Amino acid sequence: MTVYLNGSFLDRAQARVPVDDRGFLFGDGVYEVTRALDGRLFEWDRHLRRLARGLDGLDIVLPGGLESVQLLEVSERLLEENGLGSGDATVYLQITRGVAERRHHFPPAGTAPTVFVSASRLAVPDELRARGAAVVTTADLRWERCDLKTINLLPNVLAKQHAVAAAAFEAILVRDGIVTEGASSNVLAVIGGVVTTHPATHRILAGITREVVLELAAELGLRVTLEPIPLNALSRASEMMVTATTADVMPVVKVDGRAVGDGQPGPVARRLHAALRTRMQRAGKRAPARASGS
Ligand code: PDD
Repeated sequence: MTVYLNGSFLDRAQARVPVDDRGFLFGDGVYEVTRALDGRLFEWDRHLRRLARGLDGLDIVLPGGLESVQLLEVSERLLEENGLGSGDATVYLQITRGVAERRHHFPPAGTAPTVFVSASRLAVPDELRARGAAVVTTADLRWERCDLKTINLLPNVLAKQHAVAAAAFEAILVRDGIVTEGASSNVLAVIGGVVTTHPATHRILAGITREVVLELAAELGLRVTLEPIPLNALSRASEMMVTATTADVMPVVKVDGRAVGDGQPGPVARRLHAALRTRMQRAGKRAPARASGS
């Protein structure tokens, strides 16, 4: 597999980051995971905006600005060169504060951030989608800036491992009795016929899939509200689902062993997933080349 590291395209096995990289030492960086279908990146502009906001939030400055790295061209080239020009794939992108002697405070101005990009095949979890996923709840132990997509993912890692140990698809994070989001996904529930999800505050990562799904819900004429979901309100939910770049809309049929609604994937999740897939396929179609002169 070919990856991109600091201006070079090279074989994954040859790509090396120095031990003094602040990503390695402090988890000091941001990342994005973007979906690709047939070689085209889905909602690229939104991912780039979120990345820019994260860099801003951490005060990581790229010398020539974010545009200088040409991340879209790099990502498309990686998809192409790695045989991912058709079908489902993801592009992983990470920027750290760079390589410097270990001190907690920022390194000297001008220290070049480390930029890494790779592309991988995505096995879309359609079989699980048909059955519906089980999730478990766990405490949300994260900091107060969950809106920044930082590589500092230790609470998420521990939560996900908790889910894996319980043979569950996802860990649902609960803070002060409120369902915030999943370890690597956002949570939506249908309560009293209304699609409900946590508002995009500092307590959650505003997922791109969540954002698109909320737009699609409005287009489908569904009622939507951005409100925190108390954990004890899940017993009244007719449906629940999680959304993420790597899972699309995944219906949740069990929480901590208890059935959600009738314990089957519901119609809202099904419609939202179908609408998302259609949007993705449309976006994936290359615009026909314009005939010259027309
Ligand atoms: N994670 N919330 C958290 C904490 C996440 O890590 C993610 C995505 C999401 C969903 O965001 P989006 O719809 O933009 O993928 C919500 C990615 C997929 C990951 O870490 O692999």
